[in-house]
Amino acid sequence: MKLGIIGWRGMVGNVLLERMTSEKDFEHWDIELFSTSQAGQSSPEIFNQTFTLLDAHDLDALSACDVLITCQGSGYTQKVHGPLRQKGWNGYFVDASSELRMNPDSVLILDPVNQSVIEQAISDGKKDFIGPNCTVSLLLMAIGGLIQEGHVEWVSTMTYQAASGAGAQNMKELVQQWAFMTNHTEELLNDPAQSALAIDKKVREGYAETTFPQNHFGAPLVGNLLPWIDSAREEGETREEWKAMVEANKIMNLERQLPIDGTCVRIGSLRCHSQGVMLKLTSDIPMNDIEAIVRETTPWTKWVDNNKEATIKNLTPAAVTGTLDIPVGRVRKTKLGNEFLNLFTVGDQLLWGAAEPLRRFLSFIN
Ligand code: HSE
Repeated sequence: MKLGIIGWRGMVGNVLLERMTSEKDFEHWDIELFSTSQAGQSSPEIFNQTFTLLDAHDLDALSACDVLITCQGSGYTQKVHGPLRQKGWNGYFVDASSELRMNPDSVLILDPVNQSVIEQAISDGKKDFIGPNCTVSLLLMAIGGLIQEGHVEWVSTMTYQAASGAGAQNMKELVQQWAFMTNHTEELLNDPAQSALAIDKKVREGYAETTFPQNHFGAPLVGNLLPWIDSAREEGETREEWKAMVEANKIMNLERQLPIDGTCVRIGSLRCHSQGVMLKLTSDIPMNDIEAIVRETTPWTKWVDNNKEATIKNLTPAAVTGTLDIPVGRVRKTKLGNEFLNLFTVGDQLLWGAAEPLRRFLSFIN
């Protein structure tokens, strides 16, 4: 089957190619690489070969593919998806962007959690398969088992989201902010006579410098956090917060709508999103049962014992970055009552949060 890849040069696309290379997925496909700006040129070496890039806006070239997988973003999907379908193209459209997620005909793909939904959709002839929002995917990789078992009445999630979720430029800007502050405070840091408060003052002055790099975030992220992600929606929620409930319910195809809400916060991590989660359980489920269900949720979901040593070793962005692990820890009943379960989870937003569900979907159709 012929597979066309669009947006492979961007950050998510790059991670997708890396994963397809290490899992040797490319061996099962006749691959074309598309470009929005460099059609006709040669690609760098990818999958042990170089490609002549095809025009990502050429509907004929696109519709010669059985499967299109795009990490190019919503704007591109808006431009090509409708015209391709109107032209009668009936291939699989696999998209990392949010553009088609809530279309009734689209299926959200996170196979460790919703494999049966995906398989049913394929046999029903569905053709639009969309990667969910990263925060939602990472949450369900952690608590999908408890939801599936019908143990969860509602979910409150407070997120700690990495710079990469805002894009490659933002990720770079975070490191530029680190570098700026390192230079700005270096003299004081190297002088043992300087107090922490003097350094704090220097950092504050640094934020106010006109050369402090903040074009992409519009604010400092280093030494700071930003409790606002994406655009505003009604009722004071952000779009990122809205996605949690609508997408999670759609992924799991739940009959009763599971309420999920919370505050989404950008923090100074590079590519791992973390979440502090409060679950209202349907009953006082024993901790042993909870542990067994969490451990069984997916092969990548890892139980972390609720102690300091295990937590700071395994339940952090630094421990998880670049891996497929989804650690779940700090699991305990709370003072709110035995039906209120606290937990914390971390995941790499470029892997399970973006590229991995798309890559894995390919194996369901070929
Ligand atoms: N919207 C997410 C974020 C990233 O800003 O972190 C991808 O879904």
